[in-house]
Amino acid sequence: MSSPRYAVIGHPVSHSLSPLIHARFGKQAGIALEYGAIDAPRENFDAALAAFAAEGGVGANVTLPHKQRAAGICGHLTERARRAGVVNTLVRTATGWDGDNTDGVGLVRDLTSRHGQDLRGRKVLLLGAGGAAQGVAPALLDAGIADLFIVNRTDTRSDALADALGEPRRVHPRYFNDLGAIGSFDLIINATSIARTSRGELVLPGSLIAPRCDVVDLGYGEAAIPFLSWARASGADHVIDGLGMLVEQAAESFLVWHGVRPDGDAVYDELRARESSMATAG
Ligand code: ATR
Repeated sequence: MSSPRYAVIGHPVSHSLSPLIHARFGKQAGIALEYGAIDAPRENFDAALAAFAAEGGVGANVTLPHKQRAAGICGHLTERARRAGVVNTLVRTATGWDGDNTDGVGLVRDLTSRHGQDLRGRKVLLLGAGGAAQGVAPALLDAGIADLFIVNRTDTRSDALADALGEPRRVHPRYFNDLGAIGSFDLIINATSIARTSRGELVLPGSLIAPRCDVVDLGYGEAAIPFLSWARASGADHVIDGLGMLVEQAAESFLVWHGVRPDGDAVYDELRARESSMATAG
């Protein structure tokens, strides 16, 4: 009998580390599984998912640009997926798919457990209002941050995200053009896709960085370099890329599918070592 099939669906997806991470987790837990990558442009998501289901797919991770659409096709959403409004984890049911979102838990676990951060009482700037930002915002609020300022290139989206979060005392949408006059922050999180999709760079004022400010980019590898370089040059205390979050959201998806929470540290260390050896080689 063949192993149960899982996959990550996105575009682009060829460089995704999720197949490797889930293979390692399966080995660690003694669970046989197949986990592949399905490249599907925006308009092909439904067809790609239907083909995957027809081939016996039982679970999928969903990444850019499909997280919102994925929420729309689900029969049932977990509470955290409903609050986020976007889905990164699909579970096959008798009639279709159920949806969950593990991005927020993954980020908070990485920041608190791996990087020893205390999120309580912090003044946070979230850059972006797309699928990644929507996924992490509720978990940041649950972790006890004091204020969440949301800034996005398209301000209707930051307004919509702030409205959806339903906490007007703690959540404040602001205009991109006002970043120079918005004050400084303890924690800044880049949840835009600019470096991944257009190899572009955000141009931001250094005045955003408060003393002891920590800066996070939800991307990893080359995509995280420009933003984290800006943060370092502007005096950030710690800079953190999205590799740990990637591993922890995968661990949480693994728990959803298999009922076992794998330990992310070994695979995190392996991926970090691979990254360093590639940088040395390159
Ligand atoms: P993801 O799932 O990674 O969040 P997404 O839902 O497509 O992907 O959202 C991408 C985010 O990056 C959005 O906040 C987007 O801003 P817009 O809502 O204005 O499109 C942001 N983004 C992408 N390219 C950008 C750029 N060149 N400058 C600023 N923000 C950008």
